Amino acid sequence: MGKVFSMVVEQAGIGVVTFDVVGDRMNTWTDDAFRSFAELLAELESARGVRGVVFISGKPENFLAGANLKLISQVETAPQVDRTMEHFHSSFNRLASLPIPTVAAIHGHCLGGGLEFALVCTGRIAKEGKNTLIGLPEINVGLFPGAGGTQRLPRLIGTPAIELILKGQMLPAATASELGIVDRLVPAGGDLLAAGKAFLEEIIAGTAGLKRPVRDFSQLDSVVEQARAGILKATRGRELPAPMLALRAMHEGLKVSLSEGLAIERNYFTEVVLSREAKGSINTFFLKGMTDKPAAMMTKGFVPKELKRVAVLGFGTMGRGIVIDTLRNTRLPVLVKDIPAALEPGRAFVRKILDGMAEKKRLTEPVDAVMARLTTTSAYDDGFPSADLVVEAVFEEIGVKKQVYGELCRVIRDDCIVASNTSSIPITAMAPFVTNPGRFGGIHFFSPVWLMQLVEVIRGEKTSQETIDNLLNYAALIRKRPIVCRDNAGFVVNAMLFPEMIEALRYIEEGNPIEKVDRAMTRFGMPVGPIRLIDEVGIDIPHKVFIGMGIDQQTLKNVVGAGRLGLKKSGKGFFLKDGSVDPEALALIANRPPRELSEEEIQKGLLTAMVRVGKDILDRGVVDDVRMIDVGIIWGLGFPADKGGPMKWADLTGLSMELFGKKFYPA
Ligand code: NAI
Repeated sequence: MGKVFSMVVEQAGIGVVTFDVVGDRMNTWTDDAFRSFAELLAELESARGVRGVVFISGKPENFLAGANLKLISQVETAPQVDRTMEHFHSSFNRLASLPIPTVAAIHGHCLGGGLEFALVCTGRIAKEGKNTLIGLPEINVGLFPGAGGTQRLPRLIGTPAIELILKGQMLPAATASELGIVDRLVPAGGDLLAAGKAFLEEIIAGTAGLKRPVRDFSQLDSVVEQARAGILKATRGRELPAPMLALRAMHEGLKVSLSEGLAIERNYFTEVVLSREAKGSINTFFLKGMTDKPAAMMTKGFVPKELKRVAVLGFGTMGRGIVIDTLRNTRLPVLVKDIPAALEPGRAFVRKILDGMAEKKRLTEPVDAVMARLTTTSAYDDGFPSADLVVEAVFEEIGVKKQVYGELCRVIRDDCIVASNTSSIPITAMAPFVTNPGRFGGIHFFSPVWLMQLVEVIRGEKTSQETIDNLLNYAALIRKRPIVCRDNAGFVVNAMLFPEMIEALRYIEEGNPIEKVDRAMTRFGMPVGPIRLIDEVGIDIPHKVFIGMGIDQQTLKNVVGAGRLGLKKSGKGFFLKDGSVDPEALALIANRPPRELSEEEIQKGLLTAMVRVGKDILDRGVVDDVRMIDVGIIWGLGFPADKGGPMKWADLTGLSMELFGKKFYPA
């Protein structure tokens, strides 16, 4: 058991407490930390001659980053939450009751339970620098500050705290100082400890001039009402537990004494910790961490092949997007090949998108400088032998692909990596077209490429691990979030999506209104409902895919047969321009025996359709890890982050037990 908090009492009676959770990169409130803190408090409670204390972290870039999320996500019952929170409450109450002043000297991350600790101290001093971030970001993981944050921060800085907490903002030191969260700033490079001790001496001498006005909450009702409207706008009307309960804790707690407010916070916090949304959000947080740095997904010790030039085949919808993301995220020269007539329109399109990004200050260099790295060609010219990676995005026809790979392999080097963006042709089926097929794999992008984070990296039977690792490296360079899977019709994301669409179409054929089916899923948290999505991607596309799957979907057959390919694609589809359902489309919906479904039944039915495919994908080894599926569906389809992915949500709601008698995630 390590000693986390250790105090040295200096001659002048100033206690300097350094805390360091040895062995961890970050300081968090571990059991050891609480135990050690309790010992320190006992020492301080009985100490004579200590006039005040400065708390400072022993880590170079981290003050204290809050509670341990893994532990929180495993808590299952109210008494368990209470036991965990009791540590916080009893420690912080004892700290608040010390007869001597305390100063938190902050550098690095001071977040969540770390800031809640600092808020109990008499004063706060923070060192500026890019690593210093101060805030209560719990809302981002489906929680809210439950160790006094919802009560102490508003009492310190007034109602602006409400928005800070509801948005989970993390502030640099200077902004925290402007808002009154910290009292003093130390410039980057300054001596934080010396400044902290000097500040403490001022507090002791009564010259620090700390203003702690009693905050006026007389307008609280209207502030809360506004905040509530803001949340509901951001969640498109969904009442998620974390922001709703945080708001109630503040609304009710700020009208009573601090100790009563803390009790109110504690009750709501128990409720939020036990919510499924907290567990779902924490899962998404870990999924994000897992795929934020694709390097961690590569084979240990792998050194990626250095890319000096990337070539793209096909300057259509997808080729353009792949070119845009390679150009803007790397400094690599990009060569793109298509027929002569496609080159100028492609170039103009790329420039238009880059111009838009420059306008929004999302480009780090002038558009001309970015465009200067783009070369277009309609022949397999001199540029190809120097390409280290070729991404193919030509027509989705195996004959065309065969011809293209045949021509390509005559001009590229043997070690050049080749990747197809195909959405439906197995990588293994195309491998024979590529000489040295170990260097060939899939990289499946989503449209529009520059807005969609996900890519599926596909391992064909012959694809080498080195190629997979190099494709993960490319994904990292162009800032994509990759998942790795094996050949499978629709890979992961489309394989899960299409059965959901088929199920949704069945519901409308059974007489459930289109609006109701779509609304059920937007209320569930999807960005669009399934029928609208079919309309937006172009109705002919799922129609064709379903035929490929051996399913002649009657409604789509009727709708496509009537020349309605979707509002955007052909001006007519399921919807009118004003967003309402087109009555002409209604007449084309096939008939089935009527079956009226409730919103919950629709949600459960469509989730079931997805999860069944997910189970099959796992069983067949298309992915090695269930988390790949959830990453794919969250970042490829916009599945709600608070639900943690379809597979996690099935676990949390009991659906996986009901369907298969077991959970997908290990306990
Ligand atoms: P597209 O029709 O917009 O573009 C294809 C381009 O390839 C055209 O510009 C065409 O002139 C060019 N091309 C044809 N033969 C060529 C050759 N021999 N050499 C060089 N260029 C040639 O098609 P899109 O939508 O960009 O699709 C391309 C690939 O990406 C397909 O494999 C498709 O399945 C896949 N994909 C499409 C998605 C989408 O949402 N459109 C999503 C993910 C993958």
